[in-house]
Amino acid sequence: TRCLLGLLLSTLTLCLNLADAKCPFHFGRARSEDDGEIFQAEPRRMLMDFDAAAVNELDIDAVKADLKALFLNSKDSWPADFGNYGPLMIRMAWHCAGTYRQSDGRGGCDGGRQRFDPERSWADNVNLDKARGLLWPVKQKYGNALTWGDLIILAGDTAIESMGGPVLGFCAGRIDDADGTASLPLGPSLDQEMVAPCSVNGECEAPLGASTMSLIYVNPEGPMAVPDPEKSAPQIREVFGRMSMNDSETVALIGGGHAFGKVHGACPTGPGPSPAQQPWNPWPGTCGEGPMKGKGNNTFTSGFEGPWTTNPTRWDNEYFQNLLKYDWEVHVGPGGHHQWRPVNKDPSDPDPVADIMMLTTDVSLLKDPIYLELVKLFAANQTALDIAFSHAWYKLVTRDMGPYSRCLGSQVPPPQPFQAPLPPPPAKKPDFKAVTKAVTRALRTASSALPADMVGGKPYYGALFATLAWQCASNFRQTDYTGGCNGARIRFSPQKDWPQNVAMDSVLAVLEPIKASFPGLTYADLIVLAGSTALTNAKAHKIKFCGGRSDASPDETPFPFQPPRVFSNKLVQLKDNAQVMGLTTREMVALQARLRSPSQQRRLGYSGSWTENPSILTNEYFKVLLNNDWVNTTSAAGQLEMKAVGKAGVYMMPTDLALKWDPVFSAIAQEFATDATAFLEAFAAGWNKLMIADRFKGPSGNECK
Ligand code: HEM
Repeated sequence: TRCLLGLLLSTLTLCLNLADAKCPFHFGRARSEDDGEIFQAEPRRMLMDFDAAAVNELDIDAVKADLKALFLNSKDSWPADFGNYGPLMIRMAWHCAGTYRQSDGRGGCDGGRQRFDPERSWADNVNLDKARGLLWPVKQKYGNALTWGDLIILAGDTAIESMGGPVLGFCAGRIDDADGTASLPLGPSLDQEMVAPCSVNGECEAPLGASTMSLIYVNPEGPMAVPDPEKSAPQIREVFGRMSMNDSETVALIGGGHAFGKVHGACPTGPGPSPAQQPWNPWPGTCGEGPMKGKGNNTFTSGFEGPWTTNPTRWDNEYFQNLLKYDWEVHVGPGGHHQWRPVNKDPSDPDPVADIMMLTTDVSLLKDPIYLELVKLFAANQTALDIAFSHAWYKLVTRDMGPYSRCLGSQVPPPQPFQAPLPPPPAKKPDFKAVTKAVTRALRTASSALPADMVGGKPYYGALFATLAWQCASNFRQTDYTGGCNGARIRFSPQKDWPQNVAMDSVLAVLEPIKASFPGLTYADLIVLAGSTALTNAKAHKIKFCGGRSDASPDETPFPFQPPRVFSNKLVQLKDNAQVMGLTTREMVALQARLRSPSQQRRLGYSGSWTENPSILTNEYFKVLLNNDWVNTTSAAGQLEMKAVGKAGVYMMPTDLALKWDPVFSAIAQEFATDATAFLEAFAAGWNKLMIADRFKGPSGNECK
C-alpha cells in the first residue's frame, strides 16, 4: 500500500509541477479535485426579465434633470465636496466601466456588478457605496426602465455634462445581473486564480485588465507603490492598452477625468472595513472625531489628499496646464502616501503656487515623450480635448455593450468604430432552398480549391464545411457581444491568419462557385448555411438556419476581435470558452463531438483524428473517448495529442480528454454515449444558439427569434 501511495504521490507531484508537458491530465496548477467544479461554465444570471420597451420609452432628459438636482443637494449623511456630487459620480461610472478588458470581453458596467462582491469591496471602490446609495431614490422612481448599469453610467454622463463637459450621447440597455458571479474571473477569487493567476500583485499581466488586484488599472502611487513616474508611464500604456485605449484616449481620459473632484486621505488610518467585512456599515472612516468622523474633510478613500485643479467642478483643460506650469516634487501627504505638490518653475516668481496636487500616475504623463506631446496639445487646445475626451469616454462606458444594434433609447450617437459597424445586408435575400441544394451537391464533388476528406473512397467536404462555420462563429463572446460569423471577417486578417483557421480560406474557395451563382448571397450566410447543410446531411437533428447576415467590407480597418483563448490547462480552457461564448456546459460537451475532418486535423499538425469517417454525426465520439485508454504523445509536427492504447491511428486532442477527467463533463459524456437522442438534441441547441448569437435586436432580443 505504501508503495502504491508513493507512486501515486510522485505521479501527482510530476503532474502538478511539470504542468502540461509530462502530465497526461494537463492540470497546470496545484489545486484540489473539487476546483474544477468551482468554475461554473454557465451564462450570466439576470435578476428579472429585461424590459426593452420600457427602456426605450424612458424619458432620459427627465432622469438627467433629477440627477442634476440630486448632485447639488448635499446630504449630511455624506456631504458633497464643493457642494457637488458630480465628481464622485464620474469616478463611480469610470470604475464600473473600467473593469472591461479586451482579452476575454469580461468586465464593464453592463450587469451593474459594482453592487456585488468581489467588485464592491475592491480597494479602488472605497466609498462608491455612498455614491450608489445617493442614486437609490432615482432608481426607485424609474424602476425597471432604468437598470443599475444604465443609471451608473448615466449619472457619470450627466455629471460631466452638468459641469460643462462634452458628452457624445448615451447607449442605454445594460441588463442587471442577479449577483457578482460574472465578475469572479476579474478577481480576487478562485475562478480568477484558475483562469488568470497573477504571480506578482502589482505586475499582473494580461489577460487580467489591471496591474494590481482590486484596482481598476494601476497603482496611483507608482508601480509597487514606488513613486517613480518614469516607470508608471509604461505601465499605464500597458493596462489602458488591455482595454484597447490608445495614447490619445488614455491621456484625454486621465486628464479629462481629473479635471473634476479631488482625492481623499485626511489621515493615515484608512477607510475601515470593506462591505465584505462589515456589510452593515462599510468603510465608516477612521479620520476625525464626532458626527463628522470619516466624512467631508475627514474622508479617507484612496489615502491621497487634494484636488488637481483650482476649480474642480468645472470642465476645462487646467489639469494639463497645471502639469506644465509647475515643477512637481514628491512628498508624503496626510494620508501617508506619496503624492506630488507644485513648485514654481522660476524660484524668483513671487506668485504663490496653487493649492493643488498630482498623483505619480499624473506626473508620469510628463515623463513619456508621446504622452508629453498630448499633454501639450490638450493644454493649448480645449477643442482638441473636448473631442478626444468625449469620444474616449463614450468608448469607455459603451465598449462592453457590443454592436450598435444593442443600444436603446433616444440619445444613442451614430455607430462608432469600436462598435465594428457592418453594412446593411442585401435588400433581396437569395433563394436559400436553392443554395442548400447547391451546397448538398458540393458536399461530394471534388474541387481543385482543396483536396477533400475521402469517405468510402469518395470526396467528402461536410466536415470541412462544418469546421468553417464553427471557426467563423465560435469567436463569439457573450461577455462583450463581439465576434461571430456576421460580417464573415474570417476572410480577412487578422482572423484569417489565426493558426486554428489554417486553410479556411481554401474551404471557402470550394464554396466560391455557389457564392458567384446567387446574387444577394453573402459570404456570412453561405458559410453558416454550408455548415448547417453539412450537419443536416450528416443526420444531425433540427439544425436551423436564419439568413440575413451581411459582409464586412474588405476595406474596413481590421477589427481586433480576439481568438478564443488557449490555456495550458485544457479543462479550464473548455469551461472558460463555454462561459465566454454563452454556452451551457451541456451544449459545450455536445459541440465537442462536431464533425471533425481528418485532413484538417493533419493540417493543424495532429497525426490524425478519432475517426476517418466524419460523415455521420453520432454519439460514437463519446464511446471512443470513454471506452479507450489514452497516452499522450507528440505528433511529428510538434502538437501534443492523445493516442488510443492498442488502436492504430486513433487520436484525440487534450481538449477531448478534458471531457473524460472532469466529473461534470464526464457525467454528460456518459449520458451522451448511452443516449444518442439526448446528444443530438443538445448538439442542435448549442449549434443553433451559436450560429445566431451575433444577430442582435436590442440588448436581449435576436432578429432570428
Ligand atoms: C479620483 C486615480 C483615471 C476620474 C481618483 C483618485 C485616485 C485616482 C487615486 C482618488 C479617489 C479618492 O480618494 O476619492 C486614478 C488613476 C487613473 C485614473 C491611477 C489612471 C491612471 C481616471 C479616469 C477618470 C477618472 C480615466 C475618468 C475619466 C476621477 C474622478 C475622481 C478621481 C472624477 C474624483 C472623485 C471625487 O472627487 O470624489 N482617481 N484615476 N480617473 N478620478 Fe481617477
